Amino acid sequence: MNPESPLIHAKHVFRAAILLLAVLIAMLLGRSLFVPETWGEFGPYRGAAVAEHRDKPIRHGGNDSCAMCHDAEYAEHAGGEHASVQCESCHGPVAFHVDLEEGEVVAEMPVHRSRELCELCHLRLEARPADFPQVDVREHVLSNGGEFTPDACFECHDPHSPI
Ligand code: HEC
Ligand code: HEC
Ligand code: HEC
Ligand code: HEC
Repeated sequence: MNPESPLIHAKHVFRAAILLLAVLIAMLLGRSLFVPETWGEFGPYRGAAVAEHRDKPIRHGGNDSCAMCHDAEYAEHAGGEHASVQCESCHGPVAFHVDLEEGEVVAEMPVHRSRELCELCHLRLEARPADFPQVDVREHVLSNGGEFTPDACFECHDPHSPI
C-alpha cells in the first residue's frame, strides 16, 4: 500500500473490528450452546422448569391422609394445642410411610422422641414473635420439677395435645 495513502492508518481499525466480530460470534455461539431452549418462554426463567416441577410426585398428604389409619391420634391432635401443626412437620411426608394408592404401609414413619423436636419451635429465641409460646428449656424443666434428659419434654407434655 502506498505509504502516502491515508488508509495505511486504518488497518488498526480493521484489526479491532475483526477482533470485535470474533468476540461477537463467540458470544452468540456460547449463548446458543449454554442457554436452555425454553429460556424466556414465560419470563426470565427456563420454561420447561414449570412442567418438571408439576410432574414431581406429591409426597405430602396433610393431616387427613393419616386419619383413616390413625383415627385416635388424629382426633386427639385435632382437639389440642397443636391442631395447627401438621402431623408431617413432626413425623415425615406420608409418601415415605404409605403408598396411598395401594393403601399399604411401605416403611416406618419416623418418630422423633427427643427434646430437639420441641426445641425447633419452642426454644426461647429473640427472633421469635414475643407472643409465641417459648421457654428457656433447661430452666423450664427444672423449675417444673422435671429432670433435664434428652426426652424431658415427654414427661409432662403429650406431643399430640401438649397441655
Ligand atoms: C394406610 C394406613 C396408614 C396411613 C394412611 C398412615 N399410617 Fe402411620 N402407620 C400405619 C401402620 C399399619 C403402622 C404400624 C403400626 C405398628 O407397627 O404398630 C403405622 C405406624 C405409624 C407411626 C409409628 C411408628 C413407630 O415406630 O411407632 C407413626 C408415627 C405414624 N404411623 C404416623 C403416620 C402419619 C403422620 C401419617 C399421615 C401423614 C400416617 N402415619 C399415615 C398405617 C398408616
Ligand atoms: C408436635 C409434633 C407432633 C405432631 C404435630 C404429631 N406427632 Fe405423632 N408423635 C410425635 C412424637 C414425638 C411421638 C412419640 C411419642 C412418644 O413416644 O411418647 C409421636 C407418636 C405418634 C404415633 C405412635 C403412637 C404413639 O402414640 O406413640 C403415631 C401413630 C402418631 N404420632 C401419629 C400422628 C398423627 C396421625 C399426627 C397428626 C394428626 C401426629 N402424629 C402429629 C410428634 C408429633
Ligand atoms: C413445628 C413446630 C412445633 C413443634 C415441633 C412443636 N410445637 Fe408446640 N406448638 C406449636 C404451635 C404453632 C403451637 C400453638 C401456638 C399458639 O397457639 O400460639 C404450639 C403450642 C404448644 C404448647 C401450648 C402453649 C400454650 O401456651 O398454649 C405447648 C405446651 C407445646 N406446644 C409444647 C410442645 C412440645 C412439648 C413439643 C415437642 C414434643 C412441641 N410443642 C413441638 C408448634 C410446635
Ligand atoms: C416437669 C414437667 C415439665 C417438663 C419436663 C416440661 N414442661 Fe413444659 N410446661 C409444664 C407446665 C406445668 C406448663 C404450664 C405452666 C407453665 O407455663 O410453666 C408448661 C408449659 C409449656 C409451654 C407453654 C409456655 C407458655 O409460655 O405458654 C411450652 C412451650 C412448653 N411447656 C414446652 C416445653 C418443652 C419444649 C419441654 C422440653 C424441653 C418442656 N416443656 C418440658 C411442665 C413441663
